[in-house]
Order: sequence, then structure tokens, then C-alpha cells
Amino acid sequence: MASRSRPALALCRARIYTAPSARPLRPLSQIRWQSTASSEDTEGVAKGTTGTSKTIKFTSETYPEIKRDSKFAEITEDHVKFFKELLGKEAAVIDGVTKDATDDIEPFNGDWMRKYRGHTKLVLKPGSTEEVSNILKYCNDNMLAVVPQGGNTGLVGGSVPVFDEIVINMSRINQIRSFDEVSGTLVVDAGAILEVVDGYLAERGNIFPLDLGAKGSCQIGGNVATNAGGLRLLRYGSLHGSVLGIEAVLPDGTIVDDLSKLRKNNTGYDLKQLFIGAEGTIGIITGVSILCPQRSKAINVAFLGLESYEKVQEAFKAAKGQLSEILSAFELMDNQSQNLVQQVTKNKRPLESAHPFYCLIETSGSNSEHDNEKLQSFLEDVMEKEIVSDGVVAENETQVRNLWGWREGIPESLGHWGGVYKYDLSIPISELYSLVEETREKITKAGLIGDTDEHPVVDVVGYGHMGDSNLHLNVATRRYDKNVEKELEPFVYEWISKRSGSISAEHGLGLAKKAYIGHSRSDTMIALMKQIKKLYDPNGIMNPYKYI
Ligand code: FAD
Ligand code: MLT
Ligand code: ZN
Repeated sequence: MASRSRPALALCRARIYTAPSARPLRPLSQIRWQSTASSEDTEGVAKGTTGTSKTIKFTSETYPEIKRDSKFAEITEDHVKFFKELLGKEAAVIDGVTKDATDDIEPFNGDWMRKYRGHTKLVLKPGSTEEVSNILKYCNDNMLAVVPQGGNTGLVGGSVPVFDEIVINMSRINQIRSFDEVSGTLVVDAGAILEVVDGYLAERGNIFPLDLGAKGSCQIGGNVATNAGGLRLLRYGSLHGSVLGIEAVLPDGTIVDDLSKLRKNNTGYDLKQLFIGAEGTIGIITGVSILCPQRSKAINVAFLGLESYEKVQEAFKAAKGQLSEILSAFELMDNQSQNLVQQVTKNKRPLESAHPFYCLIETSGSNSEHDNEKLQSFLEDVMEKEIVSDGVVAENETQVRNLWGWREGIPESLGHWGGVYKYDLSIPISELYSLVEETREKITKAGLIGDTDEHPVVDVVGYGHMGDSNLHLNVATRRYDKNVEKELEPFVYEWISKRSGSISAEHGLGLAKKAYIGHSRSDTMIALMKQIKKLYDPNGIMNPYKYI
């Protein structure tokens, strides 16, 4: 009897929050949630979790084995004079070469995680594709290394210099060039901010086919350069599918105009694909054309508590089967991740009692009555079968935002104590959570985890895009500590390699994973990648010390 009463009670609770099927939920166009990385301390640059970039240790000190390549020239006053004349506008050059500009430059040197910090003395903010072309040609001719930088929200150290590479920040190239309401094709400058672009599309009944927690700061060019996955890849697919064309500048200044708006184009190698996920190593993306679907009119969000990872898998299977075409997100969070969010935000948890796992399920469709009915019947089914123990369903946009906050707020909350070791892994779904358990055990055995300051680790948590078999294993720490890093690496990468997973599902390689690409790619493939790099960037000036 006891086993039957539990799901009935839980279902009752879910019903309290569920919108009656007759009452339509608000369209997504009215739902605007705050980016977790939206605060900015300098135009075009995200501030990061806490503190300023001056508190970050230099990458060159943390990783003394990385040496500056002497083939690169050092920046001189003559170089700076050239760039000032080229870009004209005072605000387009931050010059720390001929004068002290440390405070202005620091935000461009430090990354969002406060893990990496470079030594650049020069930041350039071009205002057009032609200016990018002139900058790169000059840098290539003079052997000056560069780092393309978008919103600086990347999580692998790719967007900041290691040594004195010139930062080319794209924030001034930020216009929407055109939008075709019939085909849904958007052409946009690379420096446009994702949230701004999505707001523009919302007013026209469309949606950008990518959404992520850093939307208030990250740029379309940065999204494409990292091949970002985000919260709704399950629904809208990878940028490799939705990007139709790219305009980019090669290191020698050549402008590659491949801003095709065609859905289909089988004429030769699809070269634009190389720029998607290249992380600024072969050229700078200046424009993107992309297919933007219709925005769904009916959005539902459910937040569920589950007792085991096996039940999470059952729930995912049931969601795919029963919600099918309206399922737009299936996100996983463990209890440890939610505890840390609560400690930081002090908000009331969505469910009354604690559960080892939580899932956030979103549906997006065109008929709220139909979608509510489907979701309701799915919830009844999974509760009756005791797959799900408890759950709530948002009944208005504030509740939708609130429930998403428990998922989107994880990255920022984890950084609260000092630092985070972050892993974004593709893992066969049946084994996805075992890595978190094994890592927690390993860190515990090493005596590194605890509530007091002598323990560097606050907790080991798991969350991620269950719908894409993408786990985020995160180790929240009070400080970056080599003893923790040694426990984690290469352990995590070897674990992944044994299961033929990927060491990066969506964040990319950057500096963080350059040494480990061999765990996910064969020697033959790495050799081919190196040939491509050499072909596009023979002098190696584009984002050196990173990627491959
Ligand atoms: P940057 O960080 O500035 O740069 C990233 C890389 O791209 C660098 O190597 C840089 O050199 C290169 N680059 C930037 N612009 C250009 C350009 N125009 N041309 C060529 N190269 C360029 N990622 C996900 O995949 N999914 C998520 O759900 C997700 N959530 C996040 C949540 C938070 C809170 C944060 C802080 C980050 C998250 N990320 C996520 C990381 C993600 O990679 C970035 O948010 C985003 O895609 C990077 O865009 P950006 O403009 O900030 O690029
Ligand atoms: C996310 O899914 O929240 C992002 O990829 C960022 C992160 O991994 O923390
Ligand atoms: Zn993610």
C-alpha cells in the first residue's frame, strides 16, 4: 500500500502547479531570463564569476612548461602607431605599450573562470570586416600573434592570451545585417550578443537555434567558433546543421565570403564547417548566416525529483517516447549541484524534499492544450510507475524562469568559493553518472574534500544535457590547486577514452585540453588537423599555444 500512496501524493503536488489545460501558457517570446554571465565591467567583456582579473594567477606561472614562441615579434611603438592610424577611433585601441593601461586591459587578459590570465598589452576593437582584414594582414606580415575574442565567456582558456598576443575583440562588429521572415534566414555580424539577437528574432516570431546561460555576454561569432551546444541542442541540433554560411578573414587578410543563405549546396568541400568549432585558430569569423526556426507558442517546464540514475534514464526514455516532437530540453542535475546553488542563492528549492537527482523537462509546441495534455499524461505515467518521485510544473513565465534558474544558475554558483575544474564530456548514456561517483570517491580518498579551508574541494557535482549524453563534471574548489588537478587529469580523460567518449562535448579544446586531444582523436586525424592549420595559418599567428 505504501508504495502506491507515494506517487499519488506526488502527482497531487504536481497538479497544484500545473496550468489547467484550458489556460494557455505564455509564448516564449515573453519569457526573458537574465543571463548568469551578463554583468560586464568593460564594454564587450564578461566579468566572470567573482573578483577581478587581477586576482587571477598568470597562465605562464600556473603552467611554466608552456614557453613563449620566440618566432613571434614583440609589440613595438611603431606597431601601435600603425593600428591607431588604421582604426582611427580612440576607443578602438587599448594601448598598454606606450603608456600604462593595466586597469583597462586586465578584463581582456583574464577569463570567466578566473583560471587563465595573459600578459597582453594591446587590445584592438575593429569596426568592420575590412579593418579585421587589415589588422590580420599586418600581424601576419610582422609575425605578431593574435587572439580573437568574443564575449570572453569560453570555458577552456581559448579566449585570452597566454603571453603578449594581441587581443582582437569583436564587440564593435555587432549589427544584424538581414532577416528573411519567410525562410527564417538571419545574417548577423559576429560580434552581436546572443541575447540581443534572440530578442530581435522574438519580435518577429522566430528563435535563435542556440541558447545558453552566458547569452547576455557571448557573441554569435564566439558561439560558432566554439560550436556551442547549449540547452536545446536536443531540439534545434548542432550549429554544424543550422549555420548556412560564414564570412571570415584569414590570417593573410583574405576575406572569405561564404555567406550563403542556401539550405542546400552540394558544390565541393563545405569549407564553412572548418570555422565552426575552430576556436579562432584558422581565421576570424566576421559574419554568420543561420537558419532560425519559428518560436514555439506554448512552453511547459517541469522539474522532477528522482531516486537513482537508472530512474533518470527511464524518465528520459519515457519523455522521448511520450513527448516526442514537443520535447525541447531534458536537463540533469544532481542533488550536490542543487545544494551549492541553494547555498549561494538562498532561494527556496522547487521540491520540498531532497532527491539524489533532478530533471528539468521543457516542451515547446504550437498548441498549449495539446502540449499540456501530453505533459500531464507523461507525468501521470512516470509517477504511477514510480520512475519519478515528485515534481512541479510551472504555471506562468515567472515559474518557468525560476525553474530554469536552478539549472542555468549552476555554473555561476559553483564559482562562488574560488574556482571550478570543469569537464564537458560526451559519454555513453548508461555510464554517464558513474564518472561523477568515481571522481567524488577519488577526491575523497585523497583527503581533498571538506567543509574547512584546508580542504581545497567544496564538492564534486554532476549536471548536464542528458538529452545529448553530455555530462558536466565539475569540481568546485576554494582555490585552484595542483593536487586537485593531479587527481583529475589525466584520470578523467583516460576514463572517457576507455569508453570511446569525447573529452569535449561542447566547450572545445582551448588551452585546457590541448594536451589531451589524443584521448578522443586518432593520430591520423590529428595529423590531418595540423595540415589544415598549416594551410590556413602558415605562420601560426592565430591563437597559438592552444587547440592542437
Ligand atoms: P569567447 O569566449 O570570447 O571565445 C571562445 C573561443 O572562440 C576562443 O577560442 C576565441 O578565440 C574564439 N572566438 C571568439 N570569437 C571569434 C570570432 N569571431 N572568430 C573566430 N574565433 C572567435 N557552452 C556551451 O557549449 N553550452 C552551454 O550551455 C554553455 N553555457 C555556458 C554558461 C556560462 C555561464 C558560461 C560562462 C559559458 C557557457 N558556455 C557554454 C561556454 C561557451 O563556449 C561560450 O559561452 C560561448 O559559446 C563563447 O562565446 P564568446 O563570444 O564568449 O566567445
Ligand atoms: C552549462 O551547461 O551550464 C554550460 O555548458 C556551462 C557549464 O558547463 O558549466
Ligand atoms: Zn553545457
